[in-house]
Amino acid sequence: MSYTQIAKYNYMNNFEWKNKNNAIFYDQIPKELFDKTALESGLNSGCDIDILQPYINSARTILEIGSGYGRVVQYILQFNFAGKLYALERNHKMCEHLRENFCHSADIIEQDIFDFKTEKKFDLILACWTTICEFSKEEQSVLIKKLSNMLTADGKLVFDSIFDKPRNSSYCNCQNHVVHNEYSSLYGYIPSLAEIKAYALDSNFKTTKIIYYITDSNRERAMFVLSNNTDVSNSQNLLLENVMFA
Ligand SMILES: C[S@@+](CC[C@H](N)C(=O)[O-])C[C@H]1O[C@@H](n2cnc3c(N)ncnc32)[C@H](O)[C@@H]1O
Repeated sequence: MSYTQIAKYNYMNNFEWKNKNNAIFYDQIPKELFDKTALESGLNSGCDIDILQPYINSARTILEIGSGYGRVVQYILQFNFAGKLYALERNHKMCEHLRENFCHSADIIEQDIFDFKTEKKFDLILACWTTICEFSKEEQSVLIKKLSNMLTADGKLVFDSIFDKPRNSSYCNCQNHVVHNEYSSLYGYIPSLAEIKAYALDSNFKTTKIIYYITDSNRERAMFVLSNNTDVSNSQNLLLENVMFA
């Protein structure tokens, strides 16, 4: 069966995918396709990281999960970030690229986030470019709880998400979707605002701030900033009890 047929078969049969099913996608796709997708998403200019500049500037330690080929790492370094930067990625070829290009400026951790154990605490944890959506609904909840325990008292967890299925997805059942190409299939789940609220409450976060933004290719996205402090910087600050979740 081709990857297309497998993706369609799995979709039609309500295949209960997990994050580990997505690992092969990144093994298979060439870097050029990965970069082309960033370009089409309007993220290759780093417009998403520009939004995060105030958080980056005030952090001493940053952990990025799912660093890919280092797009986020590169933009963080362009802000002259002087703290300690950790880039966690489970894909071996991506980690080789990260080590080749950033080993002097970041600690590269080649590991699955679910296997990552540390005593360290981070001021800022980032999951950019819908990395969160590459985890099933159940896994998203577990992941956010795990990451909440790795934050300093004032720490912030920031993740990026979307409101509609990805434009390149082939099959979509409300929040579940599959992106497939000639190489492999990538499964995703878009968390609703109500689910994000539940994840945040379950992990004892006090505030969830939503920063809506539009990418360079005109796509609507949002950054969710979960923190234990009331965040009063500009843009919409939504205390959990006041959040207008769908
Ligand atoms: C959409 S890419 C984002 C890449 C990068 N953060 C960026 O914004 O350019 C998602 C990345 O997360 C990685 N990833 C997915 N699940 C992971 C896991 N369980 N542990 C570590 N990395 C993971 C993938 O290998 C992939 O590189």
